[in-house]
Amino acid sequence: MGHILAIDQGTTSSRAIVFGPDLSVTAAAQQEFTQHYPAPGWVEHDAGDLWSSTAATCRAAIERAGLRTHDIAAIGITNQRETTVVWDRATGRPVHRAIVWQDRRTWDMCDRLRSEGAEDMVREVTGLLLDPYFSATKLAWILDHVEGARDRARRGELLFGTVDSWLVWNLTGGAVHVTDATNACRTMLYDITKGRWSSRMCQLLDIPMEMLPEVRDCNADFGMARADLFGREIPILGVAGDQQAATIGQACFQPGMLKSTYGTGCFALLNTGAHQVRSENRLLTTVAYRLDGEVTYALEGSIFIAGAVVQWLRDGLKIIRAAPETQGLADRADPEQEVILVPAFTGLGAPHWKPQVRGAIYGLTRNAGPAELARAALQSVGFQTRDLLEAMRADWGAAGAGEVLRVDGGMSASDYAMQFLSDILGAPVDRPRVLETTALGAAWLAGSRAGAWPGMAEFSDGWALERRFTPEMSQANRDRRYGAWQRAVQATIAAA
Ligand code: G3P
Repeated sequence: MGHILAIDQGTTSSRAIVFGPDLSVTAAAQQEFTQHYPAPGWVEHDAGDLWSSTAATCRAAIERAGLRTHDIAAIGITNQRETTVVWDRATGRPVHRAIVWQDRRTWDMCDRLRSEGAEDMVREVTGLLLDPYFSATKLAWILDHVEGARDRARRGELLFGTVDSWLVWNLTGGAVHVTDATNACRTMLYDITKGRWSSRMCQLLDIPMEMLPEVRDCNADFGMARADLFGREIPILGVAGDQQAATIGQACFQPGMLKSTYGTGCFALLNTGAHQVRSENRLLTTVAYRLDGEVTYALEGSIFIAGAVVQWLRDGLKIIRAAPETQGLADRADPEQEVILVPAFTGLGAPHWKPQVRGAIYGLTRNAGPAELARAALQSVGFQTRDLLEAMRADWGAAGAGEVLRVDGGMSASDYAMQFLSDILGAPVDRPRVLETTALGAAWLAGSRAGAWPGMAEFSDGWALERRFTPEMSQANRDRRYGAWQRAVQATIAAA
């Protein structure tokens, strides 16, 4: 006992990680699955793939750890957020592929709702903005396009869930239809002040409330994983969306603490405590976590393309074979050339929210080549993070925000990217020893709820620094570079 199985169901792969009683990683398994792009701007996952890859990696991780399932005290789940699944309650079969958070197909629905004056209500109730990113318009799209779906949903025959709900449903053999507050608040159907589904939002999009899951705390009883999956029933005691789980894993438990995760996209969350900060700068107000009924809020800045820009260097431009090569290439770039890449491949997220904009490159010369593009790609992540922090500083005031940024996610392994980040922010960037912060956050929720792991204070004390990056760029250079980035973004928006 004392081991915790964390499931991290992400955008490009499913992972399972077994943590030992000392909170270190005992074993892990990972499986990628197919991304479906049925039309420009559309992104879908086969929900069956999400479940089968999750089940397979759980079994593989437990086996690699050399444990019997009896040794696993509990399961914690973290997941790609907003991605929308609708399935048949009786058969458990999805009625459509899952529509992924990156999918932009409902931008016109969002535009229509905006022109009808709905945005203020959306912001007030949900803390979000009207954007295709969130689940609500994706769900409405499925109900509009799958024949008979809305009527069936009204009759209670179809269920909606984000990926956590879908996994819990499958883990429990269809016994439990639930979600947690962090995933619920990303649907654009959840009232973050009242802490329940919003009938006004459901009416606006004609979504039958019968199909929505029950919302629980992040550290709650989410049911038992079936005995036939792992040889013994295992309790599911923790659920949080991946960015909120990373906030927990980074021990950002105090108001003013800030983390930024560099995965496919980049998501910065600033803990604002029990207080909901309503952004004047187009950030999101969201639930950081809900523990034992107590809600802690966060301000979130979401960037859609971070690590994905390195994938583009590899798979699109084919100028690197593997992500770690980017740094070496960037180091060889000509310092005299200032190529700027605005990676708006799927539109711009916070603080611009322009789903229709597409990427652009500025400052190309005859001498610009792979090295300059690699450097521009890594720097684009730093520039975009600065955009978020500027908005956070303006919303939250100087105290706290931006003083220190805790980083994690695949791209945080790049010393080059992290040094540039610190330079362009003019703030320290802290990289922790444990980079599996997302899975660790989910494991902590389950482990502490099971009584097998330490409480919040002891867990925070265990957070350990691997390396601090401090600014080395002069203020004048920082201002000049950031000014050039801002002009590039404005030009890109204007060109759309
Ligand atoms: O909001 C989307 C986010 O949860 C996806 O995270 O790590 O799968 O890119 P990731």
